[in-house]
Amino acid sequence: MNAPSPEREFAGRTALVTGAASGIGLAVARRLAAGGAAVAAVDRDPEGAAKAAAELTAAGARAIALTVDVTDPVQVEAAVYTTVAAFGALHLAVNNAGVTHPAALTADVELADWRRVLSVNLDGVFHAMKYEIPAMLSAGGGSIVNMASVLGSRGSLGASAYSAAKHAVIGLTKTAAIEYAAQGVRVNAVAPGFIDTPLLADAYADADADVRNLLTARHPAGRLGTPEEVAELTAFLLSDRASFSTGSVHGADGGYTAGR
Ligand code: NAI
Repeated sequence: MNAPSPEREFAGRTALVTGAASGIGLAVARRLAAGGAAVAAVDRDPEGAAKAAAELTAAGARAIALTVDVTDPVQVEAAVYTTVAAFGALHLAVNNAGVTHPAALTADVELADWRRVLSVNLDGVFHAMKYEIPAMLSAGGGSIVNMASVLGSRGSLGASAYSAAKHAVIGLTKTAAIEYAAQGVRVNAVAPGFIDTPLLADAYADADADVRNLLTARHPAGRLGTPEEVAELTAFLLSDRASFSTGSVHGADGGYTAGR
C-alpha cells in the first residue's frame, strides 16, 4: 500500500484549529487545508475567522469559520458539535489560541492579567480537549496538537502567568495522551521558540532594539522562527507519519532550549 503524498495526506479528515485568524494558527489552517483537510477556523475574532475560512475556501478547501471564545466551555462544545455536523466527524485538532500579558515581575502581575492568560492559554486547551476527544473516539481515533512554548519548560523574566500556563499545557498533554493512547487518540505538544507573529509584536511593542536583539540571540539559529515552520511540525505530528508519537513535546525553536 502506498502512503498518501504529504500534499494530500489529510484528504477525508476534518480539523479544528483554535486561534486560526492569525499567526501560527492561520499558518496551520492553511497547511492542513493544503493537505486536503476540511478545516473549522475557530477564533474569538469574527472577521479574522471569516477571512481565514474564505481564503481556504477560495483555495479549494472545505472550511467554516466559527466565532468562539475558548474561555467559554459552552462555546467550545458548540464549535465541536458544529464542526462534526458540517463535515461528518472530527479527526484532527490544534489547540493554539493564546495571549500574553504585559511583562511584570511575579509580585507585580495584575490579577486580571493572571486570570486572563490562564483562562485562554490553559482553560481554553482543556475545554477544547474535553469536547474534541469524545468526538475523535466516535470517529475511531484522532490526533491533537496543543500549542505550548519554550516557556513551557523554562522560566522567563516577567512572564510568570504565560510560563505557568504553558508548563500546565504540557502536563495536560501528557496526561491525556496516556489516557487515550490505546483508543487511537494521540496528543502531543509543540513548543515554539519566538515566532514572528502579531502576538510577539504586541508583547514587545514597547521594547527597544536591544531587547529584540537579545530575544533573537536566545536562538542559536540566529533568527526568530516563522509561523510556517511551526505549522509544518504541527502537520507532521497530526499526520499518520507520526503514528507512534504521543505524549511528547516537540520543539520548533532554532536551538533555544538545547543549550540552556
Ligand atoms: P497571534 O496573536 O498571532 O494569534 C493568536 C490568535 O488567537 C488570534 O487570532 C486571537 O484572536 C486568538 N485568540 C486569542 N484569545 C482567544 C480566545 N479567548 N478564544 C479564541 N481565540 C482567541 O499569536 P501566535 O503568535 O500565532 O500564537 C499562537 C499560539 O502559539 C499561542 O498559544 C502562543 O502562546 C503560542 N506561541 C507563540 C510564540 C510566538 O513567539 N509568537 C512562541 C511560542 C508559543
